Amino acid sequence: MRTHYCGKLRTKHIGETVNLCGWVDRRRDHGGVIFLDLRDRTGIIQIVSDPQRTPGSYEQADTLRNEYVVQITGRVTQRPEESLNPRLPTGEVEVYADHIQLLNAVHNQLPFQVATADTESVREDLRLKYRYLDLRRDRMSHNLQLRHQVVKAIRRYLEDEQGFIEVETPILTRSTPEGARDYLVPSRVNPGEWFALPQSPQLFKQLLMVAGCDRYYQIARCFRDEDLRADRQPEFTQLDIEMSFMSQKEILQLNEDLVGHIFKTVKDIELPRPFPRLTYAEAMNRYGTDKPDTRFDLELVDVSDLVKDSGFKVFSGAVNSGGIVKVLPIPGGNEAISNVRIKPGGDLFKEASEAGAKGLAYIRVREDGDMDTIGAIKDNLSAEQKQELLSRTGAKPGELLLFGAGTTEIVNKTLDRLRQFIGRELGLIDPEKINLLWVTDFPMFEWNADEKRLEALHHPFTAPHPDDLNDIKTARAQAYDLVFNGFEIGGGSLRIYQREIQEQVFEAIGLLPEQAYNKFGFLLEAFEYGTPPHGGIAYGLDRLVMLLAGEESIRDVIAFPKTQQARCLLTEAPSSVDDKQLKELHVVSTYKPKS
Ligand code: AMO
Repeated sequence: MRTHYCGKLRTKHIGETVNLCGWVDRRRDHGGVIFLDLRDRTGIIQIVSDPQRTPGSYEQADTLRNEYVVQITGRVTQRPEESLNPRLPTGEVEVYADHIQLLNAVHNQLPFQVATADTESVREDLRLKYRYLDLRRDRMSHNLQLRHQVVKAIRRYLEDEQGFIEVETPILTRSTPEGARDYLVPSRVNPGEWFALPQSPQLFKQLLMVAGCDRYYQIARCFRDEDLRADRQPEFTQLDIEMSFMSQKEILQLNEDLVGHIFKTVKDIELPRPFPRLTYAEAMNRYGTDKPDTRFDLELVDVSDLVKDSGFKVFSGAVNSGGIVKVLPIPGGNEAISNVRIKPGGDLFKEASEAGAKGLAYIRVREDGDMDTIGAIKDNLSAEQKQELLSRTGAKPGELLLFGAGTTEIVNKTLDRLRQFIGRELGLIDPEKINLLWVTDFPMFEWNADEKRLEALHHPFTAPHPDDLNDIKTARAQAYDLVFNGFEIGGGSLRIYQREIQEQVFEAIGLLPEQAYNKFGFLLEAFEYGTPPHGGIAYGLDRLVMLLAGEESIRDVIAFPKTQQARCLLTEAPSSVDDKQLKELHVVSTYKPKS
């Protein structure tokens, strides 16, 4: 049926008779000469038909409409000088169609024009409902192919260069604690019992290490019932990796090689190595987040000690009740950012309050070195304090200092958000730049104020730092995240492989011994049978591809994604099921639709 792909034809094919198959991207009638752009996965080729030169195809060509599926037999010819198209890889040639066979027509009105959808904005719900049309578009087809190239590069590197083997782990399993809600599946044959879909293959990959598998990887589907955002899906894909007998240093090095290989293969970019590293403490201190976008400089400065005893109650009060005061200095901010924007009603104020801040104090450093401030800050700082403030923040005349005062969590959240907002607005981020960064030495636990207990910051199988074993509750973890331009694309750790330490961690997160045994007895037991030291990492494959593709939503790199409401608009899932099915599953719905 087909001898060539449309997008592959070049001048070397001139004179050949070819068979092409594809979709009519556009049809133009230029006074009796019909031009068709014929499209397949590889691109577009111009087809020409007119009554003189191609009488055998003209009648059929005249009936064709956009998105009809056709097979065309024709001769590849040189395009005349005036119709060369340097924007198309096939733009030096065209095909004179001797014969056109209509394989299938379009019977309904198209919900959107595939050919023009790249330049016109089509509503996302329409794109998702007719995803098969959306995926015909150049951009989406390119994204799917890029995703494939990334996976291929991963497999080649891990399998061929590093001796990893891919092992599949179960989808119907027990709950794995990655911190989100589980998707549950009722068991028909075990009434009243439920499987959970895996939030990650974490425990199975560890058990594979106990099994002596040594180097495992999997392109693994994971399921998490959590609030969705542009970089989160309920069903997503991880590149999941686990290794035995490797130090943290060796693991990070292997992963830098892997990521370097991906960038080189799919983007022809040589990443500078080694990747920079920041400890968690340093990242939080300087950027207010554990996934800083280091493509631009704005850095936070902690001034808690400096303002602790100042007469400005908002600052001293925050510090004396256990919180902090930090500054975000913005060079040139006096000119770029007006007071209206910082005060209630302004856009920066809104950003701050959405992060939980009650207000946004500021100081403007004047050209004469003096300060203009909001409210009473200036009058309540001594000359030395002002001087120290300027020298610590490095603030120059014209600079705007934005302050966050309150709990550590809210101050960091607020200033991180403002930093990103202002960085984007002032054009400080070079979109061409690629910054990869390891964040290391996370704390083992964080305080869950709602449940009034410690919870694992990564997951409870992460090994504590050997120097911190005397107090596991405040220990640093041997954990690392990989951050790409402000997105967490991967996270992993060395794992606990000794039963006593695992039990201490379960205890720290408030699991009673019998609860721990009920949930994770199989793991504790496995630790008794010769578990090697091991560690690993998992990458968010969708996120990685999204960033490589320059997309802003992971939905654009997943063939059939869910909406923000976790629905599939194409198949209309989830949907209700027959009572009979529920009965078989021993499930009764308590949901009462609102009338
Ligand atoms: P973690 O929970 O950090 O670690 O997940 C690893 C990576 O998966 C991506 N990710 C997501 N991507 C899309 N949608 C989501 N809902 C989503 N949630 C997470 C992120 C993240 O960095 N078992 C551990 C890994 C390990 O320790 O080896 C784990 O799952 O890019």
